[in-house]
Amino acid sequence: MSGKGVFIVLEGIDGTGKSTLSKKLKAWLEEQGREVILTAEPSDDWLGVAVRRANSEDLDPRTESLLFTADRCQHTLRIEEMLKQGKVVICDRYYGSTVAYQGAALEKDMGDNAVSWLLNLNGPVVRHPDVTILLTSDPQVAMRRVGNRGELSKFEREGYLGKVQDIYLTLAREAKWTVVDSNGKLGDVLESVKKAVQAYV
Ligand SMILES: Nc1ncnc2c1ncn2[C@@H]1O[C@H](COP(=O)(O)OP(=O)(O)O)[C@@H](O)[C@H]1O
Ligand SMILES: [Mg+2]
Repeated sequence: MSGKGVFIVLEGIDGTGKSTLSKKLKAWLEEQGREVILTAEPSDDWLGVAVRRANSEDLDPRTESLLFTADRCQHTLRIEEMLKQGKVVICDRYYGSTVAYQGAALEKDMGDNAVSWLLNLNGPVVRHPDVTILLTSDPQVAMRRVGNRGELSKFEREGYLGKVQDIYLTLAREAKWTVVDSNGKLGDVLESVKKAVQAYV
């Protein structure tokens, strides 16, 4: 099969199956003869390393947002190169992750301005994806799947992830993303993801 670059993004809170489904989607597209690049954010270059370090050092969420966005700026240039070569690029997390996670973290200090600041910051940096799939899940189910035992209490963590998911759902409505419920069986979720992608590849 041919040759037009397609940019696919998977978003969702931790444990919704992004990494698992990205790999299965890649295999399915390759069976159809497409050349597929699987990539993720934070990226695997030094800016992505800086983002991970910021995560572990509890920096101000604004600093974190800027680092994530700097990493994304360089990563997007690489994605655009691959798209120009006619490849399908599947990206595990993109700007929606920064808007949803840092938006939730900044809400206390910035209110609604947090989300609009993050969207404005990312606007000139991102490449508009051909299709974005938001995987949703009950935060409790998602946390169980990743076996999360972070330092926050279970309820704080669930509350935070619930807020992250609410912002994700607002973005999905506004940007016309495809929302896929990932509470069900992996095979069923994969079928829904394939259906969302089919028209673009
Ligand atoms: N629909 C599903 N049903 C059951 N288990 C799932 C489902 N989706 C993902 N998992 C499992 O949950 C764990 C987290 O999935 P992962 O793909 O790493 O999520 P994410 O990348 O979104 O954090 C993995 O062990 C995966 O096999
Ligand atoms: Mg993952």
